[in-house]
Amino acid sequence: MSLQGKHTKEWFERANAVLVNGVSSQFRYWGDDDTIVIDHGEGGYLVDMDGKRYLDYQLGFGPIILGHGDPAVSEAVAEAAREGASFAMTQRREVDAAEKVLTALAWPERIRFTNTGTEATMHAIRLARGVTGRDIVLKFEGQYHGVHDYVMYSTASAAYGSLGSRMRPIPVQSSSGIPDEIRTFIRTLPYNDLDAVHALFRGEGHRIAAVIVEPTLGNTFGLLPVAGFLEGLREVTGEYGAALIFDEVKTGFRIAVGGAAEHFGVTPDIGTYAKAMGNGFPVAAIATTGRFVEGWRQGGIAQAGTYSGNGVAAAAAGATVDRLKTGEPLAQVEKVGRDLMEGLEKILADRGVAGKVVGHPSMFSIYLGEGEPTDFRDTAKHDEDLYERLTMRMIEKGVMPCPDAKEPWFVCAAHTDDDVATTLQVFEESLGETVDDQ
Ligand SMILES: Cc1ncc(COP(=O)(O)O)c(C=O)c1O
Repeated sequence: MSLQGKHTKEWFERANAVLVNGVSSQFRYWGDDDTIVIDHGEGGYLVDMDGKRYLDYQLGFGPIILGHGDPAVSEAVAEAAREGASFAMTQRREVDAAEKVLTALAWPERIRFTNTGTEATMHAIRLARGVTGRDIVLKFEGQYHGVHDYVMYSTASAAYGSLGSRMRPIPVQSSSGIPDEIRTFIRTLPYNDLDAVHALFRGEGHRIAAVIVEPTLGNTFGLLPVAGFLEGLREVTGEYGAALIFDEVKTGFRIAVGGAAEHFGVTPDIGTYAKAMGNGFPVAAIATTGRFVEGWRQGGIAQAGTYSGNGVAAAAAGATVDRLKTGEPLAQVEKVGRDLMEGLEKILADRGVAGKVVGHPSMFSIYLGEGEPTDFRDTAKHDEDLYERLTMRMIEKGVMPCPDAKEPWFVCAAHTDDDVATTLQVFEESLGETVDDQ
């Protein structure tokens, strides 16, 4: 059965005639029969071209934190659009938004705006290399930092069997088109394995420019750091003079207003922010402090962007952060997320299905397997096929998490207690049908 109704199918055919596979980002392609075309969003819901409503837990892969079409953000953006977006000069809205972002994050001395998470991590890595004079970057398996060549290794699409041993992991290229030589600049290790990090630093710590880490494993089930992991990264990078980069593109302005740095109480040298900072509008920031601010200030480490700090993006960030600072939106996100996590886990237990709901209430995943994973390799035991069949049934019934369990369920402030009840009912029914079908 196709997820496309009559009009959605016609729109997909139009899309397919002009966009490669009918999409502008490959992750959105679910096959010719199941790629849905959306008309508009409303709070916690999406509406497709047939008027079918979906309770949305993809939320654009994380940016929607207040709800689709939030009135305050929409109004601020519309006003900015009427007054012109890009001036090749610093503008009032950009300064205003930067002040709000800096106050919310608390730890950085300065930020620079950019447009996407990919640009932010690319600039963060260049800044770290430019200041330290070193080339090597350590990243963790299952983490995603955008699509630029320097970080497309051992992401969540890597085949488990291709990663080599835990002691000597093989950085697995996640795309064709990346020169082989780039691999010499990257090291990959299992997330949460501080012993492995120490061993790497003992061997070549003085060649390492940066450790880049999603503080929670936001691209693999939203797994949380084990006690001491982030603190250990802070310590070892400090000892060896490498930069600690927190890639907070998913966690920033979501797991707390000040992101993972606030939530876990560990401060990086450089932080990258995007998604929830702008409630769906393309705005990102690179935040930094100390010698890294100085590195940019002195010049010679290129950072630029025609649209960076544009008025529309800045207005979106300013209005979103204003709302988040009241505390109400994230309190609602956390409550709804917690109720969902508990409810989903109870249904799994009642049904006798091995599994665990893992992550933070604002971005969690359902792991269907024995035990509790702490890194990407552990998730090889997850029953991918069962999860996909289960979530496709849920989507047919109008509740839409991503069918790939590695991508967390995202919660927004527009989700309600009624939405929780609907979701749990649909999950229970769909799980029953899927298990009975086996
Ligand atoms: C942690 C993280 N970093 C960076 C990115 C890249 O952001 P963008 O898609 O805006 O380029 C993503 C995207 O999902 C992400 O999850």
